Amino acid sequence: MFTYLTAGESHGPGLVAVVEGLPAGMGFSVDDLRHELARRRLGYGRSPRMGIEKDEVEVIGGIRHGRTLGSPVAVVIRNTEHDEKWSEEMSPHRGEPKRRMTTPRPGHADLAGMVKYDTHDARNILERASARETAARTVVGYLAKTLLGYLGIAVFSHVVEIGKVRVPPGPVPEPDDLTDIDASPVRCFHPASAAQMEAEIQAARDAGDTLGGVVEIVATDLPTGLGSHVHWDRKLDARLAHALMSVQAIKGVEIGDGFDQARTSGSMAHDEIVVANHGGLGRETDRAGGTEGGMSIGGRLRVRAAMKPIATVMKRLRSVDVDSGEPTQAFFERSDICAVPRAGVVCEQVVAIVLAQEAQRMFGGDTIEDLIAAHERYRGRITDF
Ligand SMILES: Cc1cc2nc3c(=O)[nH]c(=O)nc-3n(C[C@H](O)[C@H](O)[C@H](O)COP(=O)(O)O)c2cc1C
Repeated sequence: MFTYLTAGESHGPGLVAVVEGLPAGMGFSVDDLRHELARRRLGYGRSPRMGIEKDEVEVIGGIRHGRTLGSPVAVVIRNTEHDEKWSEEMSPHRGEPKRRMTTPRPGHADLAGMVKYDTHDARNILERASARETAARTVVGYLAKTLLGYLGIAVFSHVVEIGKVRVPPGPVPEPDDLTDIDASPVRCFHPASAAQMEAEIQAARDAGDTLGGVVEIVATDLPTGLGSHVHWDRKLDARLAHALMSVQAIKGVEIGDGFDQARTSGSMAHDEIVVANHGGLGRETDRAGGTEGGMSIGGRLRVRAAMKPIATVMKRLRSVDVDSGEPTQAFFERSDICAVPRAGVVCEQVVAIVLAQEAQRMFGGDTIEDLIAAHERYRGRITDF
């Protein structure tokens, strides 16, 4: 399985992603990567800061003439406003910051991080805790999606709830619907709900408040058997939950109809096994969301992630200055009103990473051709079922 590391602070010179263990021969396009990074900036309710954060990409290793070499892929995303505005404050050289941030913001990593890392400057913590880091994970996600594409697997997301607005039950979108989803200001496939979501965000903005919501991540055409029941850390649903919970502000994960399943009886909660039209085995329902026993059951995967409302609110939350011990209000800087549409794009990346890692663990190979051949052989074998 490939592994990866990311490094870099929100206002540092840049972010770095290093991915080790990808097969050789996979296609790579800087333009396609830029497009994926731009998708992370989509959505109504963004802070003006997102306009400032342009992603300037430089490939440092692992790619030659548009193909992976099998060596570690390293990509730097430069922070275009670092040199002008942040080089002094974020300097790696000896010295002291001009302004320390001594008031931790509730709902952020600030206070626990200040205690743990023994600092009275919240910036030492918030710079890395910031969701800007997800730009580096989007680089890894782009590579993962590329690998999955060779196996005919697509991963995308759409917004199903913002604030009190909820998309009514209906058909799950298909990969071809992604252009329409991305064109929606709230990345919602249901136009009537999308309009209500926009109004909800505008109302929160007017009230000086913020909103959370729920995104659904869908992967299509999975082979049966990604992940495994044999050990806790190989279970696909567990790995997906871990990956999604690692995204900033995600506080709940649901596989398939997870919470609704818990509220119904056993005879109604499961996907019965039937003889399908093609003569093989099939399912008529999709309650489990495409996993059983820690393995994909073949076909579509459906996972939901709940994002809490942004903690940086104009109605300032109470906090305490750690230098003086005096009660005060949390620091406010330009911030999103609702980042749910963008969080969906980030959730796609982390789901794609888990699926691509599990596909690689299952089918192996040092070249993408070897991986494709092993995958085809396996698909051929399981047609018996
Ligand atoms: C795409 C995305 C954008 C975010 N934008 C903001 C933001 O503008 N302002 C903010 O306060 N938090 C934002 N967050 C959430 C914080 O990064 C997160 O709540 C904080 O780091 C604390 O981590 P935790 O909520 O996971 O405990 C964003 C999260 C994501 C996924």
